[in-house]
Amino acid sequence: MFVKAGLKGKDRAKVYQDDIPESLGLVCASTYILLLILFIPFPFSRFLAKSTSEGLAATDFPHFQLSVYLSSVLSLLMATMLGFLDDVFDIRWRYKLPIPIIASIPLLLVYYAEQGNTNVIVPLPFRWLLGTVINLGPIYYLYMAMLSTFATNSINILAGINGAEVSQALIIALSVIANDCLYLPWTSTFRFRLPLWLLGGKAEIDVGGVWSAGMAHGSKELVERHLFSMYFMLPLVGVCSGFMYHNWYPARVFPGDTLCYVTGMAFAVVGIQAHFSKTLLLFFIPQIFNFILSCPQLFGIVPCPRHRVPRFDGQTNLLHPSTVTFEDKPPSQLATLVLRLLSAVGLTQLTTRPQDGTIIEASNLTILNVFLVRLGSMPEKRLVQTLIATQVTCNVLAFAVRYGMACLKVAA
Ligand code: UD1
Ligand code: MG
Repeated sequence: MFVKAGLKGKDRAKVYQDDIPESLGLVCASTYILLLILFIPFPFSRFLAKSTSEGLAATDFPHFQLSVYLSSVLSLLMATMLGFLDDVFDIRWRYKLPIPIIASIPLLLVYYAEQGNTNVIVPLPFRWLLGTVINLGPIYYLYMAMLSTFATNSINILAGINGAEVSQALIIALSVIANDCLYLPWTSTFRFRLPLWLLGGKAEIDVGGVWSAGMAHGSKELVERHLFSMYFMLPLVGVCSGFMYHNWYPARVFPGDTLCYVTGMAFAVVGIQAHFSKTLLLFFIPQIFNFILSCPQLFGIVPCPRHRVPRFDGQTNLLHPSTVTFEDKPPSQLATLVLRLLSAVGLTQLTTRPQDGTIIEASNLTILNVFLVRLGSMPEKRLVQTLIATQVTCNVLAFAVRYGMACLKVAA
């Protein structure tokens, strides 16, 4: 049906050139939103039951939680619409960037209505200047709006090989769920000791103690927020796992921009509504790296071809770094400086003219190309496995940073 409707693409890393249905993220998004809508009565079932049996007043109903839930579904619907429109019309970057910001307005207003926290802890080196806590006020709202546009676009620009988009979404969703578990009541009773003497040390680390850190000031509110996050993440894991089966190498379907936008918005929603946007960003380390690396191309300093996915060699079945060429027009001084700097730290591969050293070709500035530059050419399946391994490692690191730093904060 998708192919018939013109929603199709060619797999750029295959010898065969069959039409592959694209935008199947629409099926994921529809299933996901349908599940979220069917689930609406359940978090409120306690109140619904009470209202009939004990004559509960309408004012006792948790309208606020309902508005949090509904505004989140609204943002997800807007993200789905934007993603699908992008698949159909190839929307320009200048429009793509602000739309998720507008889609996040309902979330921000609900955050404001709840008198959400806009304080941040100042990093140790700046405390002499700014104090321990600084209230960012409106800047914090701007940051949250930017978070929604970052989350939706950052997965979309780390894409183009089978399984890339959906595996990122799946790992981030699982990390968010693992983080939520730390705040649910059962974790406070779940304690175990990691005996360091096994590793030659003398002490024991009380892992349960760290795990239940959230519960130390553990309010009912904190548990509710993380439950809310789980309501949105568990069905996402479901749809992503199902989709991954079909999108895994060799892909039978493509996710399209719809999947990237809806998953990104789901993360922004839980990060904002459940108040852990900074922890959430820690789960986006590969995407942040890819975005920063892409900036020279996204902001026009270095030309950006329509597709930056690695180049496929049909003879060897290997992927090589894709390149941007400067044969017609030499790079500007700024572009040369940026490319030379990135090349010096091994993030791009340059080809220069032997006579005068002018850059004539540079590998595109994406993390996938960096893998190929650093580790050598490899098959597509190996590249996506490398991406998955990087995402998992970074997310484990994120937990270490998040909870390691929390301990330091307490110590400080
Ligand atoms: C973004 C990237 C672009 C990258 C593209 C790949 C930026 C600024 N844009 O553009 O560089 O080439 O994603 O998705 O970084 N495809 C495959 N195999 C896959 C998935 C997709 O070959 O596993 C190809 C297909 O031809 C498909 C196309 O990528 O039709 C989809 O590209 P699209 O999502 O429209 O690209 P953008 O999101 O605009
Ligand atoms: Mg895309």
